[in-house]
Amino acid sequence: MDTKTLTKDSPESSSAAKLLSVKDVCAGYDESLILKGVSIEVPERKAVALLGRNGVGKTTLLNTILGTVPTKSGSIEFDGQQIHSMAADRRARMGIGYVPQGRDIFPGLTVWENLNVSLRVSGSRGIEAEKRLDSVYDLFPVLKDMLKRKGGVLSGGQQQQLAIGRALLLKPKILILDEPTEGIQPSIIDQIEDAIYSIRKKGEMSVILVEQYIDFARNACDSFYILERGSVVEKGPIARLDDGLVERYLTV
Ligand SMILES: Nc1ncnc2c1ncn2[C@@H]1O[C@H](COP(=O)(O)OP(=O)(O)O)[C@@H](O)[C@H]1O
Ligand SMILES: [Mg+2]
Repeated sequence: MDTKTLTKDSPESSSAAKLLSVKDVCAGYDESLILKGVSIEVPERKAVALLGRNGVGKTTLLNTILGTVPTKSGSIEFDGQQIHSMAADRRARMGIGYVPQGRDIFPGLTVWENLNVSLRVSGSRGIEAEKRLDSVYDLFPVLKDMLKRKGGVLSGGQQQQLAIGRALLLKPKILILDEPTEGIQPSIIDQIEDAIYSIRKKGEMSVILVEQYIDFARNACDSFYILERGSVVEKGPIARLDDGLVERYLTV
């Protein structure tokens, strides 16, 4: 862990209670160790950007939090419980919502059926289900116009909106988004950005956002971590993410 002086607004000293705390985690695949002692904290109702060039271990860290990559050493605490030895499905049921890199929808089901799968899994019914759906349509009005279309015929950006909508209907305590704007046209990037901004403002959940599009991360998040070769090399309140850091760690 780096020893930089933490400012008042940094994740560790934030007055908000922490929801997720990853401590000194080492993890990887078979023989290859990818994460080399990573520590990050996500306070309740705050959005944290996880940044770094391709291949530094961002997705691996997300998968370690989700439980699809095993934790070799270190600990992960979520909502007051140690979760690093728990099965992935149990972690998901505790409220870890995930929108993976690429679009996680059922292409052969309609938009409505895709949303309905999440409603059923979350056990939402009646007025409660209507309210949840309305909040997703508020964020992404296009979905309401396309309920009868098959997921697979939507544009990439619309599929991403559907994937985020599905994750939200599961009522997560934390929403984890892995490069939601990758390969998406600018007009829809703005809508996704607005949606994440609005999720964060409502304060209903925490967010981890992995993003290459730095302005998006700046607008959507409260704090940031930068990974390089499996270690956290910089962190702090989002205002500290200046052009120097971007140049040093994030440009190609
Ligand atoms: N399933 C896997 N098996 C083996 N190595 C992997 C696997 N997934 C990723 N890696 C390796 O782990 C490193 C980190 O990858 P990743 O976490 O996907 O980085 P990022 O998301 O920051 O681009 C890379 O060297 C990548 O090749
Ligand atoms: Mg990745």
